[in-house]
Amino acid sequence: MIYRCFLILFILPFLLFGQEREEFSNKMEWFQGAKLGIFIHWGIYSVDGISESWSFFNEYISHEDYMKQLDGFNAKNYNPKDWVNLIEESGAKYTVITSKHHDGFALWKSKYGNLNAYESSIAKRDLLSPFVKEVKQSNLKLGLYYSLPDWSYKDYTHFTTNTKRYNIEDDPKRWKRFLNYRDNQLNELKKKYNPDLWWFDGDWEHNSNEWKSLELKKDLQNNASHVIFNSRINKYGDYETPEIGIPVYRPSSKYWELCMTINDSWGYQENDNNYKTPLQIIDLFVDTLSKGGNLLLNISPKPDGTIPENQENILKELGKWTKKHQSAIYSTQKGIPYEHYYGPSTLNKEKNILYLYVRDNPKNNEIILKGISNKINRAYVVGNGTIINKQILCKVYWNKYPGITYLKIPENTLDEYYTVIALVLDGPIKLFKEKTGAVELN
Ligand code: GLC
Repeated sequence: MIYRCFLILFILPFLLFGQEREEFSNKMEWFQGAKLGIFIHWGIYSVDGISESWSFFNEYISHEDYMKQLDGFNAKNYNPKDWVNLIEESGAKYTVITSKHHDGFALWKSKYGNLNAYESSIAKRDLLSPFVKEVKQSNLKLGLYYSLPDWSYKDYTHFTTNTKRYNIEDDPKRWKRFLNYRDNQLNELKKKYNPDLWWFDGDWEHNSNEWKSLELKKDLQNNASHVIFNSRINKYGDYETPEIGIPVYRPSSKYWELCMTINDSWGYQENDNNYKTPLQIIDLFVDTLSKGGNLLLNISPKPDGTIPENQENILKELGKWTKKHQSAIYSTQKGIPYEHYYGPSTLNKEKNILYLYVRDNPKNNEIILKGISNKINRAYVVGNGTIINKQILCKVYWNKYPGITYLKIPENTLDEYYTVIALVLDGPIKLFKEKTGAVELN
């Protein structure tokens, strides 16, 4: 009897917790290995090329004028197959599309509310379904962005920065009506598209209690235990979602994703030409990889459904690089501290291959690695195969200090963007952390 009580009180919770953790890491596995995703912001804001939803919320334009863009959102050259091909070509393993932004405009034909591509835009058709269909026929995982705030909806609290419709405390029934509408829309999306990832946004406007975040999460997980949630559901997300600002230090959490604009805007803005170059995008990507995260890079199609040419070029350039360096990208984990190598790095799953990323042409073509206790069985240029010569300095027989390794990269193997060097180690990486030995023995 006592034994049974002990089992129930002390051992069982541990077992259950362990099981839950295992289920969680199984669920997160594809996400962690994916490394690159393409974000798509497509909505009526692309017509005038003004900021998505915020332009009326911040009162740069009236809501009425903002909505006039519905008449220009024609999707007449929309070819979702081309989108999916391009996304795959970039090397991305998942995509997240704005099913509905804060302005309340839905890309799919919804039974709930009437602000959607089919009913209210000149496109007069469901624009989400054909995209999802193509995604499902590809190897990409599907993420649906859904804005919790819906600034155009009559029962939502906020309208613009200076106009609030009501406070929840004053009219809880009205808020309930809003939540009901939201849940109906989300369940509709779930049923129609069965996404792999819910990418919520705008949670700052209410607390998790008001949003009913936990209930919502449970509801969306029902019969869909595989589904992953980003962090913007107020407290109950599965991974962190920093936006634009790449963390300077490695985030402590195992799962995270940096969402990033390709220029300075989320939606298509004709006048925003501050595009990042392919090299700058790869800079961000490599930095993210070395910190163990994913990059969710945004593109912004035009109102006719075409992807701006410079965005297409960036994705293609990125694709050339990811294709060549796949082994150093997918399913890798964060690399080693900068004390050991003055640059970004990643490790394979087993931690016995170390990938060193080289941005610039190194002086004398040499890069330097310090304090790795393993034997390097093989060193080569990723995507090329050329063997790298190494020279070990400062290694003496009378202490365990592993010395300094100089790796010489042949000039003709330097990549246009980043060269990657793979070091196959004799076992999982061992970083030398001891103080260097005494000199008395000399
Ligand atoms: C923000 C903005 C939004 C954008 C999103 C992308 O929260 O409100 O306009 O869609 O971030 O991460």
